[in-house]
Amino acid sequence: MPTHKTIIVSNRLPVRIEKDGDKLTYKSSEGGLATALGSIYKDGDNIWVGWPGAAFESDALKAEVTEGLKKESMRPVFLTEEDLEKYYLGFSNQTLWPAFHYFLQYIDYGSENWDSYVEVNQKFADAIAQYTNNGDTLWVHDYQLLLLPAMLRKKFPDISIGFFQHIPFPSYEVFRTLPRRRELLEGMLGADYLGFHTYDDMRHFLSSAHRLAGYPYSGNRIILENRTVVADPLPMGIDYEKYEENASHPEAVERENRYRKSLGSQRLILSMDRLDYSKGIPRRLRAFDALLERYPEYREKVSLLLVVVPSRDQVPNYQSLKEQVDELVGKINSKYGRMSWVPIHYFYRSYPFRALGAFYRMCDVAAITPVRDGMNLVAKEYIASRKNQDGVLILSEMAGAAKELSDAILVNPNDKNQLVEAMHRALTMPKEEQKLHMSIMQETVRKYNIYNWVKLFFDNLKAVKKMQTTMSTTPLTAEGQNELISKYKSAARRLLLLDYDGTLVNFKNDPLACAPDDELMDIIRGLSTHNDVVIISGRNHEILDEWLGSLSVHLVAEHGVWSRTAGEEWKMNSAANAQTWHNEAREIMDFYVDRTPGTFIEKKSNSLVWHYRKAEKGLGEMRKSELTSHLKHMLGERGFQVMDGDHVVELKPESVNKGRAAEKWQETTNADFTLCLGDDTTDEDMFSALPENAFTVKVGPGSSHARFAVENVKAVRKLLSELIDV
Ligand code: UDP
Ligand code: G6P
Repeated sequence: MPTHKTIIVSNRLPVRIEKDGDKLTYKSSEGGLATALGSIYKDGDNIWVGWPGAAFESDALKAEVTEGLKKESMRPVFLTEEDLEKYYLGFSNQTLWPAFHYFLQYIDYGSENWDSYVEVNQKFADAIAQYTNNGDTLWVHDYQLLLLPAMLRKKFPDISIGFFQHIPFPSYEVFRTLPRRRELLEGMLGADYLGFHTYDDMRHFLSSAHRLAGYPYSGNRIILENRTVVADPLPMGIDYEKYEENASHPEAVERENRYRKSLGSQRLILSMDRLDYSKGIPRRLRAFDALLERYPEYREKVSLLLVVVPSRDQVPNYQSLKEQVDELVGKINSKYGRMSWVPIHYFYRSYPFRALGAFYRMCDVAAITPVRDGMNLVAKEYIASRKNQDGVLILSEMAGAAKELSDAILVNPNDKNQLVEAMHRALTMPKEEQKLHMSIMQETVRKYNIYNWVKLFFDNLKAVKKMQTTMSTTPLTAEGQNELISKYKSAARRLLLLDYDGTLVNFKNDPLACAPDDELMDIIRGLSTHNDVVIISGRNHEILDEWLGSLSVHLVAEHGVWSRTAGEEWKMNSAANAQTWHNEAREIMDFYVDRTPGTFIEKKSNSLVWHYRKAEKGLGEMRKSELTSHLKHMLGERGFQVMDGDHVVELKPESVNKGRAAEKWQETTNADFTLCLGDDTTDEDMFSALPENAFTVKVGPGSSHARFAVENVKAVRKLLSELIDV
């Protein structure tokens, strides 16, 4: 039996293989993803699948690379020059990257790279399929592979698939500008669990999934036709101890001494990023210029250590950024430079790990001021490296890391004046204050480290899988229906609990336009001659009485506030008491009606319902969340239940719900056959409350506590008609 493994998948492997004539050299990859997961992927039989960093054409080279990577638990996906041009440099980095970082002016909306993006995602799916066994877990990373989760789902319908987005997920307003937005969302939704660095990224994703692909969501669960998927904020951490140790490693100390010999003794501000327009490098340089202008006392005393790591240098916007940075550095250095002092020490290259330790040790200040960044690990690495707890972090509000590191000097990277003052404040901050902030940030970064992140990711993915199993329904097949009919035939007493709207009749915009038609009246009449039929609805008792009062059925109205045994009078549930709270709740709901065109309040004798079916899509859902939390806050502790139904929010006393009502009918009739049909969340109470052998059936798509599912109202009527014939 193969043991279950995890397959990590990302565009770039954590190594970059370079061709030097006939020789291959293996180097570590730059970028947050590779450095963060680099420490943990080798456990057990786990493997990492990805692109090895260059185009290898000959079979002999490919075989050599494959062999070399195998020893490191990696498997290559080879990309051609054309793939790299269209999928990587093109769609990934000239469409998605600028869109997701809010650089609208850089987005290539053309369609010429799309096919390649699809093909390469498929190439990954095919490669992964060779290594995957059922029971394995697949973990897909980042924006280059947004279509991959759905492609893998198609190949392995039941497998656990996680996805993590390392860059921001933009607001719906930006995402919706992309021509292929729907396909991208559907691709991501192939995963079971989707992680984002921040709550806002997650919120933007949920909103896009709902508004562009039409999937409803409840909290952070997205309800697909046959699965429920969870989106979650889970900020990535670093391998804290590794960075802590690296900064005091003898080689880092030796490097510091060596660098100091040429740098001199001036204080250093660190600036270290990949060359990327999202990192705000020119803005930072202009602020440094202004600092030297405004505070001449820093001249000859402070230098900027500017490390720029080459990245995506075939993309035109990156090339022009390089020119801009070169020019700014030249200008500032020639403006202030002295024989004995260079304002900016500029290095356009990547450094080995020990050198980073030396940089983090040497710099009194780290200025990390991206215009937009998913997380930014350099900020966290700087913190972990400051063993003496001195040093000051200047951090952009626009980096995901800012959500966790509120003890940094937080800045808006577009506010030059604020940047200058932040540098000045950092350079003059007393040691005691530095220590105070640094120690708090260290505690956070140490606690929420990479191991904790990975563990949480897998725990959450497992929990989602478990939730999917308990909430999964089996379609009521011919076989299931035969079993149902045979139990129905042999039962001594039969109870049928039937929800009304969405189960027996279709929804209409006007709730009063759903009166039972002749076919339905015949069905109910037919069933009620040999069974206890209970129509159990959220509607008020007056309307149920008007529509169904002439039939010999039991009626339950307002989720159990009112009930009527066939042939008797209506009775109010003694637990329900409508006196005092109506006015208070009405005032709250009125406030939302005033602000949300198309919504209205329905007053029932013991509940209030806010309807938003006719409100603008999106706005209705937003107000629903606001109203729900408002009501919970105001009335929740006083024994009220706020129920989230199909385009309604209903408020009523807690002790009354359809589940309690169903239980009561089960006890009263002592039936040995129970069939319960319902379509929305309020019916879930019934499904959970009934005995296990009850035939609980969810109407329509989505997860449910019911055992079975049927497609729609038509299928319900067909099933019930067949029971009459029995
Ligand atoms: N880094 C590197 N070599 C260098 C400079 C930086 O490996 O010469 C690493 C750095 O330690 C960090 C990563 O590159 O782990 C950058 O990650 P970050 O999240 O800050 O930015 P990204 O490049 O992912 O946008
Ligand atoms: C960011 C992205 C990664 C990417 C890295 C380096 O961290 O989130 O997916 O690997 O930048 O970019 P590159 O284009 O060189 O892979």
